[in-house]
Amino acid sequence: MSKGKLIVIEGLDGSGKATQAKLLAQHLASQGLPVREVTFPDYASDSSALIKMYLAGQFGSKPDDVNAYAASSFFAVDRYASYKTDWGRFYEEGGVVIADRYTTSNAVHQCSKLPPEQWEAFLHWLFDYEFHLLGLPAPDSVIYLQVDPAVSQRLMTARYHGDESKKDVHEKDTEYLARSRRAAEYCAEHLGWTTVHCTHSDAMRSIEDIQAEVQGIVLGQLK
Ligand SMILES: Nc1ncnc2c1ncn2[C@@H]1O[C@H](COP(=O)(O)OP(=O)(O)OP(=O)(O)O)[C@@H](O)[C@H]1O
Ligand SMILES: [Mg+2]
Repeated sequence: MSKGKLIVIEGLDGSGKATQAKLLAQHLASQGLPVREVTFPDYASDSSALIKMYLAGQFGSKPDDVNAYAASSFFAVDRYASYKTDWGRFYEEGGVVIADRYTTSNAVHQCSKLPPEQWEAFLHWLFDYEFHLLGLPAPDSVIYLQVDPAVSQRLMTARYHGDESKKDVHEKDTEYLARSRRAAEYCAEHLGWTTVHCTHSDAMRSIEDIQAEVQGIVLGQLK
């Protein structure tokens, strides 16, 4: 039996990943495809313990207190655990897996800790580590939900009702977020991701409008 398909929805914080992943999974299921949706980090699992410690600031209050390679390992082993215990067999037997974040999130959020001249070497290490050494499947398609920075800031502020204490170590650090944006654009351009522009004249496009574009891309790529 041939392996399944892995479709990844990637994007910066609050870009609509969960929203779009869920709708895409529902749509593909309605077409009769065997579909599962997975979300990373897998907060419901013990395998996310180190991620929780990291995001809560237990290794340092700034993202840069944990280097790109160490932080990437926390997220990678969480994926390994979920693959082994949850969705690996389904995928190996031909299922379609829709992932809200994946290795691609390490690419975006950890590249940003390194100077751009080190990104290529880091990405080479990252993909070799997760897709070859750990044996996780590489995505068949990565959809990058691009949101204009000004709109993104407004959404994040509204989300926490101005309560800064609710933000994790990534979300608190605006300089880090700006670097993550540059890294995301670099990755989308150099790694064959498909960019969906989610903002239009300083506002979010509607969820349905974005979803229609995402469905069009994915159905084209699944053929
Ligand atoms: N196109 C849209 N227009 C307006 N609001 C949206 C849109 N897409 C998502 N939202 C809302 O924005 C919030 C964040 O969406 P969602 O949880 O899907 O994003 P996310 O990328 O998964 O976030 P995070 O990075 O925190 O995991 C939710 O309240 C969601 O309902
Ligand atoms: Mg989410």
